[in-house]
Amino acid sequence: MEQQIENKKTIEVCFTPILYPYKLIKKDFVVIIVDVLRATTTICTAFQNGAKAIVPIANVEDINKYKNNGFIIAGERDGIKLENADLGNSPFNFTKEVVADKTIVITTTNGTQAIEMAKDADSIVIGSFLNLNAIGNWITEQNKNVIILCAGWKNKFNLEDTLFAGALVEYLSDSLNFNLNLSCDSAIAALDLWTIAKEDLLDYVEKTSHRHRLKRMVLDDVIEYCFTPNVSEVIPAYIDGKLIDISEK
Ligand code: MLT
Repeated sequence: MEQQIENKKTIEVCFTPILYPYKLIKKDFVVIIVDVLRATTTICTAFQNGAKAIVPIANVEDINKYKNNGFIIAGERDGIKLENADLGNSPFNFTKEVVADKTIVITTTNGTQAIEMAKDADSIVIGSFLNLNAIGNWITEQNKNVIILCAGWKNKFNLEDTLFAGALVEYLSDSLNFNLNLSCDSAIAALDLWTIAKEDLLDYVEKTSHRHRLKRMVLDDVIEYCFTPNVSEVIPAYIDGKLIDISEK
């Protein structure tokens, strides 16, 4: 019995990157980075469409180092495409024709900052609704504690990343292969919110502030897509400074 409790894995949700240094889990953990609108959905889409690698960059100035060196440069601040970038941050920009076999350098307002922050983890992978179950299955194979790091908005809480966290907690709670210790209040809160929202997810998403920010900028054609679960098996993992797809496709 004691053995069974010891083997249980804790799951914790950091609702914003600023909470990450205060996380309760300090060792033997993997981090799932989530920025549903839109960075991590975009990263998953790029890999789904055959991208070779993605270099996430936190500082916007650093993308200049990669300019004119055969990389595709993608980036936004406050949702708006950077002037010196080839692509913005819409997943619909990252088509097969554009990204297959290419290395992309990307910087975003929140998503790439969260990746930068999590570098102390045993492994870092990228989650979105697109690859929800694939990430859930990957976690069950790791036998580690789990931190879901929500990119949020400028260190503030957001609903959409928390909903993803709740969906992933639900998947792991239902999984027979993951011995979950569901004792952390953050994971319970995310699960409760997801339980409310999933009844009519797109209707609930209307409450989120970034949905309306994107609408004001006429960038909200992606909403339904960003909340579509399980259309991809990609597992983007951060290894040696870049993201690569480690799924066995
Ligand atoms: C981010 O990283 O903050 C976002 O993905 C913002 C966006 O481009 O929608």
